[in-house]
Parts: sequence; structure tokens; C-alpha cells
Amino acid sequence: MKLVSAFLGAVVFAAGCATPPSPPVSKEQRSADRMIQTSESTLAPVYAPLADYLAEELKLGGQTGVGIDLGSGPGTLIVELCQRTRMHWINADINPAFFAYFYRLAEAHGVADRVSAVYADAQALPFRDEYADVIVSRGCYHFWPDRAAGFHEVYRVLKPGGVAYIGRGFPPNLPVATAKAIRDQQKGMWTYDPVAEGKELADLLHSFGAQEVKVEVPQPPGSEGVSYGVWVEFRKPLR
Ligand SMILES: C[S@@+](CC[C@H](N)C(=O)[O-])C[C@H]1O[C@@H](n2cnc3c(N)ncnc32)[C@H](O)[C@@H]1O
Repeated sequence: MKLVSAFLGAVVFAAGCATPPSPPVSKEQRSADRMIQTSESTLAPVYAPLADYLAEELKLGGQTGVGIDLGSGPGTLIVELCQRTRMHWINADINPAFFAYFYRLAEAHGVADRVSAVYADAQALPFRDEYADVIVSRGCYHFWPDRAAGFHEVYRVLKPGGVAYIGRGFPPNLPVATAKAIRDQQKGMWTYDPVAEGKELADLLHSFGAQEVKVEVPQPPGSEGVSYGVWVEFRKPLR
């Protein structure tokens, strides 16, 4: 009898009287959640200065048209760019587990009507030739197994006269104390030579016919020993 009531108890428990187990979390969602957490903490001070810098450097002030942030992840940079431009911005990322967070963030900042999210591998972008006015990307290109394919795709998708700004690290206008504090938290996470990497990227871009290729390895006064990373800016010539 005891055995029967224990069995019935177990059946009732399993039938939903207790909290059901949570569904398994995918590895894509775990990876997105980690990056979202970093974007809200360690990297939070980077996005507004980067958007300020991009708006000024690429002259996006009154610009309309389409912008793509390649590998935008949480999309924090896009939300900042929406606040400084009149463009429509697309989060093109290989991990769609970011997109629900990105749309909520855009909604919370009142820019949801000027953003989209598209599943995209940088090495085979799902956009037609000459689609975008501007392509930006931070902290993504070093994950592309085939860099040449990725940069070639960026070049293909840019409109003639369009501009791209792609790199990793920090913009030159990030205060040195902030950059240092972030690097202290990231200790040893990224080791690469930004100058050698800049040269490699510039050579690649010249081979596609990109014009006005500019490599930036920011080193603002007082930042000796603090890596600001490397960025490349380039234009597709007008026909
Ligand atoms: C370090 S996170 C940077 C996210 C965002 N750009 C930022 O600065 O907050 C790298 C991002 O690149 C994306 N990514 C990695 N490989 C990619 C690829 N082949 N194509 C498109 N996105 C990619 C990841 O899903 C992730 O969102």
C-alpha cells in the first residue's frame, strides 16, 4: 500500500504539481547571454564614444539610408548610432540568440522602427550587391575563419561611395583611464599585434580595389601600454 501511494505521489508530482524543469539553454543562447552581460558591464562605456566617433569620422550626422553593424551582438552600438543618425540600422549577426534582447533594447530607447536583425555569416552576407551606405563592425572580424571572404563581402555589399569602419578595441576618443580599467578587467584575453594586423587588413582591402584605406591604431596621449586595438576605414569608389 505504502509503495502504491509513493508511486501515485510521484505521478502527481511529475504531472505538474511542482515547478517543471526549465527547458535546456542552447550554447548559442549561453554565448549571447555572456556577451550581453559584458556589454552591460565591462564594455558599457565604449559604445557611446564609438558612436560619437563614427558619426563624426564618417560624417553620418544628417545621413539617411541603410547601415549595417556586422556582428552587432547585443546591438548597443546600433542603438547609439540610431540616436546620432537618421539611418535604418541592421544587426547582421551569426547568432540569432541576441535578437530578442536587441529588439527590447531598441524599443526601450525609442528606435525600434529604425532597426532590423538578420541572421548573417560575414563570409556570405545575405544582402544584394551595393545595398548598404555604411558598414561598421566592432570586435567581430577576428572570429571570421576566412577574413578575406568577410572583407570581400563587406566590399561587395557597400554602395559605390559607401564607407566601412571595421575593427576591434576602442575608439581614439575613449578616455585613457576608461580604456585602462577595461583592459585590466580583460587581462590577457586578447594578444595580437595591432600594427601587423592593420597592415594585413590594408593589403587585403587594396587587393579588392578599396579606396582611401586608412588604418588606425589609436594611441591617445598617456595611453602607452594600453591597447586601443586596430581599425580600418575604407570607401568603395564611385563608378
Ligand atoms: C565579441 S562580440 C562583439 C559584439 C558587438 N559588436 C559589440 O561590440 O558589442 C562578437 C560578435 O560577432 C558575432 N560573429 C562571430 N562570427 C561571426 C560571423 N562569421 N558572421 C557574423 N557575426 C559573427 C558574434 O555572434 C558576436 O555577436
